[in-house]
Amino acid sequence: MSEALHSPPTDDAHAHSEAVAVAAERRWAFIVGTIIAVLILMMIVTGLHWASMPPSRVETIDVNTVHIKGEFVESNLGTSVGPDGKVTVRLVAQQYSFVPQCIVVPSGLPVTFRGTATDTIHGFVVGTTNANTMLIPGFVATFTTTFRKTGEQLMPCHEYCGTGHEAMWGRVQVLAPDEFLAKAQGGERMSCVPR
Ligand code: CUA
Repeated sequence: MSEALHSPPTDDAHAHSEAVAVAAERRWAFIVGTIIAVLILMMIVTGLHWASMPPSRVETIDVNTVHIKGEFVESNLGTSVGPDGKVTVRLVAQQYSFVPQCIVVPSGLPVTFRGTATDTIHGFVVGTTNANTMLIPGFVATFTTTFRKTGEQLMPCHEYCGTGHEAMWGRVQVLAPDEFLAKAQGGERMSCVPR
């Protein structure tokens, strides 16, 4: 054995190890090439998909009248269930609170958030979920997400907005769909702010 290790390699052994190396290189070139092709394809598909609707993603709102007319008046904030069963949460951020302070949502159903800010840039993230956005004065931020687990989540402001930033928190109560829909029967804007 040691004899074979120390003896100079034959031409056959050379040819064999070269074949092994070439095969490995080909295999990896193919894998890396496939990954690059998939990434380029993703860029093309998402580019075409989003390019077909960017203007609807930039919604503006007059920050001077946010409180007194339109979608974000106080009586329209909170969670609503539309006639088509769509769940929408509307909220406003200002130094240093969210309105409403406590948001009710169902688990397992798509929930669309619509929010804006009245004074400076705020933002929020709901617990460890992917519900996360910035709220910019003059713009309506919107996204749709589905909460998987029931229970209460904290919703901190995550954009530095002034000296009270670290005290700016909301809460999100994720209810089971039945419980949520029973609560929604009245057709009113819902929140879990104690009255
Ligand atoms: Cu609002 Cu930080």
